[in-house]
Amino acid sequence: ERLAVGIDIGGTKVAGGLVAEDGTVVARARRDTPHRSKSPGVVENTIVEVVSELLDLAEDPVVAVGIGAAGFVAADRATVVFAPHLSWRGEPLEANLQRRVPVPISVDNDANAAAWAEWRFGAAQGETHLMMITLGTGIGGALLFDGQVVRGKYGIAGEFGHMQVVPGGQRCECGNRGCWEQYASGNALVREARSLMTANSPVASDLLDRVEGDPMALTGPLITQAAQEGDPTATELLGEIGQWLGVGIANLAAAFDPGTFVVGGGVSAAGDLLLDPARITFRRHLTGRGYRPEAQIVAAQLGNEAGLIGAADLARRDA
Ligand code: BGC
Ligand code: NA
Ligand code: ZN
Repeated sequence: ERLAVGIDIGGTKVAGGLVAEDGTVVARARRDTPHRSKSPGVVENTIVEVVSELLDLAEDPVVAVGIGAAGFVAADRATVVFAPHLSWRGEPLEANLQRRVPVPISVDNDANAAAWAEWRFGAAQGETHLMMITLGTGIGGALLFDGQVVRGKYGIAGEFGHMQVVPGGQRCECGNRGCWEQYASGNALVREARSLMTANSPVASDLLDRVEGDPMALTGPLITQAAQEGDPTATELLGEIGQWLGVGIANLAAAFDPGTFVVGGGVSAAGDLLLDPARITFRRHLTGRGYRPEAQIVAAQLGNEAGLIGAADLARRDA
């Protein structure tokens, strides 16, 4: 067995796993990165801690460490050019980590890694034209065509979250306004729910009860849970996210014509509460609808672990 370590670095956490050749996660480690202390140094130390913990747990040789990072990774698979939700700006992540970790490291974008995992082991095995959308802090994207991650000339293809969908809309952490991830991510879901709560809307009373009246204590998983337990407001909030998701997916289908869209990331735990509204809106907005084959929209099978599984497997493949 050639094990690999996979690390998924999101806006708020560093999640790691020891991943076997068949894609199973045999051990896990995780740290939250406190929201405002995400300096490159803090994040780097956290990654090194998680990697060391996993290396200690390994009972077979570990041949590679793959990092899936929430940011724009250059074509060298080593440098993070820019990260909207973290403070990396031209960060030589691979070189910095390699000084402290005794196993070969490679870096990729988190959504690229998730797409790879879903294609190799998950919901899109055998699909020749797959697009991945991950809904978390932001929206991650990837194209995996003919078994290859499509990277663009500079490594940065697939940044769908920063397509403008609302001119002059919500400010995005990338600096622009009206980006898709401001309307269809986990952050967007929580922001909309909190604004209902602070407006003291009676429809938000169930959500308020769940956090003892403190809107800041609300999280995406709590909203999903409320919806699953039948709260109409939570269901409607997820439905709105789903509709924005469907609009964006219709645009992506117009541009790239894939066979399958896999939707992953934390919010995808809501399943059909999110995906049914997305499917309906997608069909309504798809250009040429009724005259063309339609891509399917499916939930990630590896859930929130797709990123770390894919990062490990991609790194092992190159090792
Ligand atoms: C970043 C992407 C990342 C995504 C999901 C976006 O804001 O630009 O690089 O993949 O968030 O983490
Ligand atoms: Na990507
Ligand atoms: Zn943006």
